[in-house]
Amino acid sequence: MNAVGKDVVKVALLGCGVVGSQVVRLLDEQADELAARVGAPVELAGIAVRRPQRHPELPADLVTTDPAQLVARPDVDVVVELMGGIEPARDLLLDALKNGRSVVSANKALLAEEGEALATAARESGADLYYEASVAGAIPLLRPIQQSLAGDRIRRVAGIVNGTTNFILSAMESTGAGYADALEEAGRLGYAEADPTADVDGYDAASKAAILASLAFHTRVTAADVHREGIRDVTATDIASARALGCSVKLLAICEQVDTAAGPAVSARVYPAMIPRSHPLASVSGAFNAVFVEADAAGPLMFYGQGAGGPQTASAVLGDLVAAARNKVIGGRGPRDTAYAHLPIQPMGDVRTRYHVNVDVHDRAGVLAAVASVFAEHEVSIATVKQEGGKDGDDRGHGDDGPTPATLVVVTHEASDAALRATVEALSGLESVRGVASVLRVEDLGRPASALGGAQ
Ligand SMILES: NC(=O)c1ccc[n+]([C@@H]2O[C@H](COP(=O)([O-])OP(=O)(O)OC[C@H]3O[C@@H](n4cnc5c(N)ncnc54)[C@H](OP(=O)(O)O)[C@@H]3O)[C@@H](O)[C@H]2O)c1
Repeated sequence: MNAVGKDVVKVALLGCGVVGSQVVRLLDEQADELAARVGAPVELAGIAVRRPQRHPELPADLVTTDPAQLVARPDVDVVVELMGGIEPARDLLLDALKNGRSVVSANKALLAEEGEALATAARESGADLYYEASVAGAIPLLRPIQQSLAGDRIRRVAGIVNGTTNFILSAMESTGAGYADALEEAGRLGYAEADPTADVDGYDAASKAAILASLAFHTRVTAADVHREGIRDVTATDIASARALGCSVKLLAICEQVDTAAGPAVSARVYPAMIPRSHPLASVSGAFNAVFVEADAAGPLMFYGQGAGGPQTASAVLGDLVAAARNKVIGGRGPRDTAYAHLPIQPMGDVRTRYHVNVDVHDRAGVLAAVASVFAEHEVSIATVKQEGGKDGDDRGHGDDGPTPATLVVVTHEASDAALRATVEALSGLESVRGVASVLRVEDLGRPASALGGAQ
């Protein structure tokens, strides 16, 4: 149902909340320009919402609570999905694509879970599937990866793709606040939702990492393939330790093509990590997003801007809508997802990074040697070790009886995740160790380790 030469492009809008309402506004305000760019007017065929009484501003004849019926209408050319969630969005979009309607979606959770099914349906019917707004809001990122860099080899995509967690970590760094206070502040200012789980536990970033890795490495990666850790356990002490090393703590989504003994593989992971303050990502603060892309020929590229927000996200949605509508008018097709490489996912245990480990110990003779030998036994090489507190360090307010508590701050050279985990487990069993207070990865993101201040 590729209606080439159409004199009007009809759009079914599913969802009219934070983003959808801005799409409606911009479609109206920019109607003439959009028509000129597309080659035909772009008109709303209908708008599906759950609670019509909450949308008195919308033309009543366009509003429906039956998205399935709207999607099935024969006059609809493009379906713009801004409802969120997996169902009913999944079934609605599969139906739309199977019937030749092009689809524009901002739904990262759906794309990360059902990207393959949606891409297959689009390919089979010849419809377009665009989802620029699903990753990093207003920032043009998927199109550059998919089209501008189509002739290059991407090695790494790493960045800050969740504004809520970046706001919280930035606030902790600038004010010295703990996690709970920074989260409360984020909620008060509208940067965190009442239930912040998707953001602070890294689910949102993991979905985006899956989408980025799929496009960058031509391999289908789902959210379940992405190793995920959130920021709930990041403490004010971690932030201070990072600062002492010349680093900032950021929640990173890292997607890499790595060489393993068995051949190339994809590593996709989300976790908080220390990065050198000299790295461009370290200066990305507040709710902004930034993504660093490294390709063989192009070298490093940085994409920066507003990663969320109604108008900002609507900008990306409209860019996709113009592309899909143009194709309806002139008879072209957007780029297909190319998942031809079928690379395996590297197990997290094999991923190599450096680590910053705080070990709380009883300060007595031989403790440093005991701790160091546990690292050595697990082939985790220590780069630096510093003692805080104890007899030779700060007074930490301990009593007179028993050994003095102290903290050993260890920074390692690169080691595998599995080796580090085994080290931490063994340390916890040492009689002279009171506990492993924190473990944070140190990512130099392609920079020489010497860029990390004292952490060499
Ligand atoms: N907000 C952002 O900054 C942002 C940024 C990037 C991507 N996104 C993505 O964009 C999508 C939309 O986000 P949003 O923030 O605009 O969400 P939202 O404000 O919660 O709006 C959701 C809309 O969908 C409607 N809806 C939900 N379930 C429905 C159903 N079963 N049938 C009919 N209508 C239904 C709701 O109707 P009612 O209004 O009647 O409740 C509402 O209008 C999500 O996938 C989100 O991940 C959002």
